[in-house]
Amino acid sequence: MRLHFNSTSLNSVAEFEKAFAIRYLPELVFSQEQDQRSVEHLCAIAKRRGWVGPEHYWLASLYAQELEKGSHLELAIRWIDEKMGYGVFACHPIPAGCFIGEYTGVVRRRKLFGRWKNSYCFDYRIGERRSRYVIDAQDAGNHTRFINHSASPNVETASLIWKGAIHIILFALRPISPGDQLCYDYGPDYWRKRGTPQLIQPED
Ligand SMILES: C[S@@+](CC[C@H](N)C(=O)[O-])C[C@H]1O[C@@H](n2cnc3c(N)ncnc32)[C@H](O)[C@@H]1O
Repeated sequence: MRLHFNSTSLNSVAEFEKAFAIRYLPELVFSQEQDQRSVEHLCAIAKRRGWVGPEHYWLASLYAQELEKGSHLELAIRWIDEKMGYGVFACHPIPAGCFIGEYTGVVRRRKLFGRWKNSYCFDYRIGERRSRYVIDAQDAGNHTRFINHSASPNVETASLIWKGAIHIILFALRPISPGDQLCYDYGPDYWRKRGTPQLIQPED
């Protein structure tokens, strides 16, 4: 993956961490070993009971190489405005179905030492079922935590089972042109207590 920020290339993890003052995470981590064991146990139960279907495994094999090695894309993280903050933009044409990245962060319980959900939390659903966990990318994550919301998105999220646990990936929903902002639909729950999102059209 090649990332640009303020017209310069971020060539190392250290440069990413310095630019955004967060820890770079190439993959999902668990806040505690016990949580990892508990999540893997829940995912195994979900498989037995059919709460996760074959598509969760099929998607993992489709994107296996990308999950191991990361995305090969060249993207730019740019400041948009005070309300929206940063956003992620395509540097080259991105074909439909292309892997954009895994939503990495720390898998932690929803309520941890009084901390509930912040703006970078992704619900950790196991199939259709909510769990007591979230993927928290506030203090640690990768480029995907900078992707903004749109009701007419060009990126989609999908959940899959990989290495015994649920992972969230993002892929291009349709061809994306150079300069387009990448965006996915955060869903109605996200905005319930956060006001009205700004419109992002595909060409923005
Ligand atoms: C996961 S972060 C996305 C990255 C964020 N823009 C940043 O600079 O770190 C989600 C937050 O970005 C902002 N955001 C994302 N999409 C937005 C939209 N369509 N309209 C307004 N704000 C948006 C909101 O502050 C939201 O809580």
